[in-house]
Amino acid sequence: MSDSEALVKVDNLVVRFPINDNRHRAYIRPVDQVSFEIKAGEVLALVGESGSGKSTIGKALLRILEPSEGTIVVGDKDITHIRRRELVEYRKLAQMIFQDPFGSLNPVKTIEQHLAFPIRKHRLVSSDSTSKLINELLERVGLTPVEETRLKFPHELSGGQRQRVAIARALAVNPKFLVADEPISMLDVSIRAGILRLMTQLREDFNLAFLYITHDLASARYFGNRIMVLYGGRIMETATSSDLIRKPLHPYTRLLLAATPGSSVKGALPETSNKPPNLMEGRTGCPFADRCPHVASVCREQVPELLEFSPGHMVACHFTNQLA
Ligand SMILES: Nc1ncnc2c1ncn2[C@@H]1O[C@H](COP(=O)(O)OP(=O)(O)OP(=O)(O)O)[C@@H](O)[C@H]1O
Ligand SMILES: [Mg+2]
Repeated sequence: MSDSEALVKVDNLVVRFPINDNRHRAYIRPVDQVSFEIKAGEVLALVGESGSGKSTIGKALLRILEPSEGTIVVGDKDITHIRRRELVEYRKLAQMIFQDPFGSLNPVKTIEQHLAFPIRKHRLVSSDSTSKLINELLERVGLTPVEETRLKFPHELSGGQRQRVAIARALAVNPKFLVADEPISMLDVSIRAGILRLMTQLREDFNLAFLYITHDLASARYFGNRIMVLYGGRIMETATSSDLIRKPLHPYTRLLLAATPGSSVKGALPETSNKPPNLMEGRTGCPFADRCPHVASVCREQVPELLEFSPGHMVACHFTNQLA
């Protein structure tokens, strides 16, 4: 596979969950026909407000949950419905870093034990070499002196150090693709930049691809090569980070940017309503219609397709040409 080819290919992904609606079975679709690609060594930042379906996409890509429709191909393998042994094998290619580094570590296990587990489980190196690999991983993520770190328990580390352990554990299998779900949002502001720099370095050193999930456009711009904006389970806009920040086209992206401190987007759009998006299956039209200042009747009737406005810049809005 060449570098320019996609490592991750997501085609028409749908995730639906059953809900109880007056004792009738109904479904929500927090991920609704989402398609995108990530190249080897590329960072795709996935941005959107709470409840827009970001984590659900991340979990589907790691097959922590099974997609309802669509396909996910990673490398040359269709992983949409794989099970058991194939899933274990897939964990060597793709790993996840979670928001809460404390919750994802076991309080009664040392750092050494956390890192030894995936190495032994996947029989990555001979048992003589396990210790050496643990040291290398700890050095990689900046947790030195390694001999000291190895014997510590998670509570003896700071939040940032714990997140570094979680990253080292994900790296242990030598993956090609990481899903990082809000990896810095629970950390002190002062240490966030260090974790972003570490991930940037790892991307370069290992040609790692990332799906970087975040609320925050500033970090998406810093770390992401491209940004994808999600609302109500659908992609509203996707472009290179610089195009998306300089020339946002979708009204929702403009709203997000206007709400970002220090943003230069002029003419901040009024927040017409604070309603969360309707995720019910069978909804019609654009999920953003209820909050959009440019809404017209077509928006409530037809779902806008995600169309290419300029090379690499895709927008799902009936009025892209008028608003550009
Ligand atoms: N297992 C589940 N069963 C039912 N509904 C779910 C399940 N997981 C998520 N949801 C719902 O799907 C929607 C999207 O959730 P998701 O966690 O993907 O959002 P998110 O964009 O990651 O939000 P946040 O920024 O708050 O993390 C929410 O309405 C959520 O309540
Ligand atoms: Mg989430």
